[in-house]
Amino acid sequence: MSSNNARTAIVTGASKGLGAGIARTLARTGAAVVVNYREDATGAERVVADITAEGGRAVAVQADVARGGDVRRLFDRAREEYGPVDVLVNNAAVAVFMPLSDITEKEFQREMTTNVLGTILTTQALAAQDDIGAASVVNVSTAGTLTHPLYSSLYVASKSAVNAFTIAAAKELGPRGIRVNAIMPGPSDTEGTRAMGFVGSAQEAQAIADTPLGRTGTPDDYGPLVAFLASDDARWITGDVILASGGMR
Ligand SMILES: NC(=O)c1ccc[n+]([C@@H]2O[C@H](COP(=O)([O-])OP(=O)(O)OC[C@H]3O[C@@H](n4cnc5c(N)ncnc54)[C@H](OP(=O)(O)O)[C@@H]3O)[C@@H](O)[C@H]2O)c1
Repeated sequence: MSSNNARTAIVTGASKGLGAGIARTLARTGAAVVVNYREDATGAERVVADITAEGGRAVAVQADVARGGDVRRLFDRAREEYGPVDVLVNNAAVAVFMPLSDITEKEFQREMTTNVLGTILTTQALAAQDDIGAASVVNVSTAGTLTHPLYSSLYVASKSAVNAFTIAAAKELGPRGIRVNAIMPGPSDTEGTRAMGFVGSAQEAQAIADTPLGRTGTPDDYGPLVAFLASDDARWITGDVILASGGMR
């Protein structure tokens, strides 16, 4: 796997699910990892314990990515622990599937501020460091921005904004050597999709039928791709939005 020795990585929303898998893999490639969480301190500490048990470096830091003050504190803490942050994985998100008629202003604000503003605030904070050289931002989008599943209108609108932000931010930050890419995961078995009732449902069976590789994703499926994008092996890749869905599109 690609090496991320001597890098400092923040993975947002890493207390569970895909973020936890990505944090574990990044640590295995040599990065010191800040395991961000919003509420689930127990989950985040479990991920840190897993990493340190394998000889890796990690610390759990609470911060709501939708709040500027929290994001500044997250970066300050990361820098105190491990030095300048040169890998940022924007994984934290709110994903609610609901009919159009159920979308409220409050739900719009909650989902958009976490998924879109959160991504913007953390990327700003990474770029505000004037002592970093080459750096990599990986935004976690969704294959749903291609497949547009039923009742996903607000969610895929937020993630389509993340895709567009990725391409535009890559143009702006490229001259400084900061690469910005996104991955589009397919339907995966996580705490979030279990809580939604997706795992074991007819929708999951349909998703598997629509996936050439014949299964849903797992948290372990995405870390190697993120570790590659974070590393110097991906030095010529920026502004790309990469499908990682077992072929579902
Ligand atoms: N699972 C899938 O099928 C799938 C498919 C495509 C894309 N994705 C994307 O993959 C990412 C992870 O999904 P998942 O299923 O693993 O999610 P999950 O199991 O629901 O976990 C979500 C994580 O995000 C954190 N989080 C939520 N709001 C936050 C905030 N404001 N600030 C900081 N952290 C916050 C949660 O922290 P706490 O629990 O500590 O509050 C938790 O660690 C998301 O971007 C999602 O859109 C998932």
